[in-house]
Amino acid sequence: MASTRTQTKPAPARRTAYEVLLRVQEGAHASDLLIEKSAQLETRDAGLAAEITLGVLRRQGQLDFLIEHFSGRPIERLDVEVLLALRMALYQVRFLDRVPHYAAINDSLNLLHAARKASAVAFANAVLRKAAADVEVEIPTGLAVPAWLLEKWTGDFGGETALKMAAASLEVPRLYQHVPAGAEAPFGGRETDVPQCFQTDSPDPRYRIQDIGSQAVVPLLELERGQRFLDVCAAPGNKTAQALEITSQVVACDASFTRLKGMKAVGVPLVVADATRPLPFAPGTFDRILVDAPCSGTGTLGHNPEIKWRLRAEDLPRFAERQRKILDNALEALAPGGLLVYATCSLEPEENEQVTGAIAGRAQREIRRIPGREAGDGFYAAVIR
Ligand SMILES: C[S@@+](CC[C@H](N)C(=O)[O-])C[C@H]1O[C@@H](n2cnc3c(N)ncnc32)[C@H](O)[C@@H]1O
Repeated sequence: MASTRTQTKPAPARRTAYEVLLRVQEGAHASDLLIEKSAQLETRDAGLAAEITLGVLRRQGQLDFLIEHFSGRPIERLDVEVLLALRMALYQVRFLDRVPHYAAINDSLNLLHAARKASAVAFANAVLRKAAADVEVEIPTGLAVPAWLLEKWTGDFGGETALKMAAASLEVPRLYQHVPAGAEAPFGGRETDVPQCFQTDSPDPRYRIQDIGSQAVVPLLELERGQRFLDVCAAPGNKTAQALEITSQVVACDASFTRLKGMKAVGVPLVVADATRPLPFAPGTFDRILVDAPCSGTGTLGHNPEIKWRLRAEDLPRFAERQRKILDNALEALAPGGLLVYATCSLEPEENEQVTGAIAGRAQREIRRIPGREAGDGFYAAVIR
């Protein structure tokens, strides 16, 4: 089919989304890149770039089903530049209400020209025109996450919860802010089941944006004023800042110098240390310790949707081995009678109860939030005395 359309420059929001999606294919993190690339964009364009990028990643399984349906070709046969341009246009056409179809489709074709994929423009145009026609296509359930993950969650949590978790990974996360004790509520903020955590539609600039799941961890430490607190995996410092509202005796540690450098403004001693090795503190130094361990992040799929397509079952034992070492080393620094909270933003038992279960002779209480069952990101925490 000959194309009669005029070629123009794609809108900045769509160009940014396309660039970010291409980089995510190579292993980059969408949210980090969006922050970096949005600095040069108008606020509205930055919002649309994020909406398209994260929406495409959240709904990748469903979009690929639609591409195969309308093109009659398996997606494996498409070049990545073509696949991403199709996913982007299809997402806007089928899942966003306020974007005109012609703008979404034209810009994806323009992106193909710019990516030197002009030979794919007629094919993409035909697929997208078919997809934009108002035809109902029933998308099979279960495409929200990869089949292996849904199967694993079904085994770990039961079918009903697994489906809720999968469905939750498609949703745009709500915004939450943390308000220090005694400060007034954010303008328009609504109270939640987590103390000092408010849900909001437009953030109050006085307060930090922090997911409700993340905010629920520090209260488990039962921190008291004057207690010595160690945050072992601290960066970017959300939980350190929360703890600092209660005690000033805080030390923040992280393996990443770059990430720790970003915490300078928090104003606590910062220690670069790989906690898989013995920590540079005398045994029994701290009354309270938080191990917010590096993990697969399967509790944060709403915020980090690329994780679900990137993670492999074989990755979990590697995470667990690192987590066990970090927990063992952190326990060495805990004072007698002290309390340690081990937390991850993973939903996988391999990184959670199978790690903490290996500690003998310590009383434990476990807490879990599951997306789709509770609001916000999911996490696991064990309170260890
Ligand atoms: C889940 S994030 C922590 C989030 C942080 N607690 C907050 O609330 O803002 C995990 C952190 O662990 C750090 N990390 C990874 N491996 C580590 C290791 N071996 N030792 C110490 N920190 C590590 C990462 O650099 C990352 O900053």
